[in-house]
Amino acid sequence: MRILSGIQPSGESHLGNYFGALRQHVALQSEGEAVYFIADYHSMTSLRDADERRRFVRELALDYLACGLDPSTAILYRQSDLPETCELAWLLTTVTPMGLLQRAHSYKDKVAQGLQPGHGLFSYPVLMAADILQFNADLVPVGQDQKQHLEMTRDIAVKFNQAFGVEVFQLPEPRILKDVAVVPGTDGRKMSKSYQNTLRMFWPKKQLRKAIMGIVTDSTPVEAPKDTAQTLFQLWSLFASEAEREALFARAAAGGLGYGDVKKDLFERVSAYFEPMRERREGLARHPDEIEDILCQGMGRARELALPVLEAAREAAGLGPPHRGR
Ligand code: TRP
Repeated sequence: MRILSGIQPSGESHLGNYFGALRQHVALQSEGEAVYFIADYHSMTSLRDADERRRFVRELALDYLACGLDPSTAILYRQSDLPETCELAWLLTTVTPMGLLQRAHSYKDKVAQGLQPGHGLFSYPVLMAADILQFNADLVPVGQDQKQHLEMTRDIAVKFNQAFGVEVFQLPEPRILKDVAVVPGTDGRKMSKSYQNTLRMFWPKKQLRKAIMGIVTDSTPVEAPKDTAQTLFQLWSLFASEAEREALFARAAAGGLGYGDVKKDLFERVSAYFEPMRERREGLARHPDEIEDILCQGMGRARELALPVLEAAREAAGLGPPHRGR
């Protein structure tokens, strides 16, 4: 089974990135041939600062490794190290209906927020389809927000296969983790850097504590029963066992539980949880050359997997010189 996923480099990872992607990616690396990449081409649709992009790519590579990605098992590569993906994106563009892209939620949302869309943002899902289809990936673990993009990938694959009458691409399955796919931010909306409501995995303790103490709660007095659908309880649950969760929720229902105490406990749990990863990350960060080596090796292995598929797509489309014997 081939597993493929990518994450856009956007700076320090937060709990949403961890529970929505990183943790799942690392857990899956032993279940098949896992390929993960840092989507720096995709980041061009929103980030214009070249130095920042480089820094963010390095940070994300560190986060992956700190979280337990094993580069001798899983492939980790930088998207732009495989520029062939962009060629495939062009091939796919030519079979992609405008209407398909116009229906994309993420695109429509950004436009609704007042963003002046560029062509890159519009065709974002086509590049994403190329990322996936070039590996003939079986399984694509993503968050709920990427589900539609995966459906579009399947549609685009079918269009290409039909257009050229060859089964060049196989259709990937999405895997979406129900409970933790969307992590709430400190203000109750989805945790996202653009909302400034994140808890970063590797923040200094002081900063982390401050952000956790600032998690928005309702104004029920201590004695009253608490609504456990609130963000604070959802976040806390990510760091607790099922039994602990039941116990705390029972206390919340009974009344007499103060939010401050839950926040303090959450802070302890978050710090302890990420501490071993923080140490690993600090060690790795001292050797930037090794990070580059890992990405470079990843590129080599990724290219080996992708080239036959890319070649088949070119062949099907009648690109390049005729094959010998024709
Ligand atoms: N769009 C994804 C995100 O923002 C990142 C991504 C790009 C991706 N290409 C992909 C994810 C291919 C999975 C497969 O999270």
